[in-house]
Amino acid sequence: KKIAVFASGSGSNLQVLLDRAGTGDLGMAEIVLVVSDKPDSKAVERAQRAGVETCAFIPRQFADKVAYETAILAALREKQVDFIVLAGYMRLVGPTLLEPFRGRIINLHPSLLPMFPGKDAIGQALAAGVAETGVTVHLVDEGMDTGPIIAQERVPILPEDTKESLTRRIQAVEHRLLPQVVANFTKMNNTVVGGQT
Ligand code: GRF
Repeated sequence: KKIAVFASGSGSNLQVLLDRAGTGDLGMAEIVLVVSDKPDSKAVERAQRAGVETCAFIPRQFADKVAYETAILAALREKQVDFIVLAGYMRLVGPTLLEPFRGRIINLHPSLLPMFPGKDAIGQALAAGVAETGVTVHLVDEGMDTGPIIAQERVPILPEDTKESLTRRIQAVEHRLLPQVVANFTKMNNTVVGGQT
């Protein structure tokens, strides 16, 4: 299955996926494209270093979101992408990408959704004073961090936690959970699409 990973920032989750794909540890998933809204991001650099093609457009250089996403859609089609993984892509996916890929886009979010959707989920959890937060992987719909949950894992918040220490523990869980889900999800969908294994 051909995967496109969307990332805006540091791309540490992208790196884990690239590493796993490189060692044949990502099930049937093959990363064929990395999409970014930030051409000078670390994520794009990581893709280039791994020899994976990139599609990095600056959204404000397009007339509107439809035009921006239409350009991405062309790249996805050209690479015959089956699934999209949002790994730190800091934009809401619009109907131009959502409709053709509905049920085939997964997102990674650093909280136990439906708690703390949106930006700075880790800061939100700390500010709320809750005893635990976590990591969620879910299917993308039109909402912000809504959509059916595929996998979740809890992360306790310790009394001495700072944003940095909690972020580190959450990222460690993300780096373990996301590749597992990607591997399973591509197998699972193969069964459904193919009718039999
Ligand atoms: C992750 O915490 C992810 O849950 C969130 O954005 C962050 C991306 O981190 N959506 P990285 O770019 O993979 O390091």
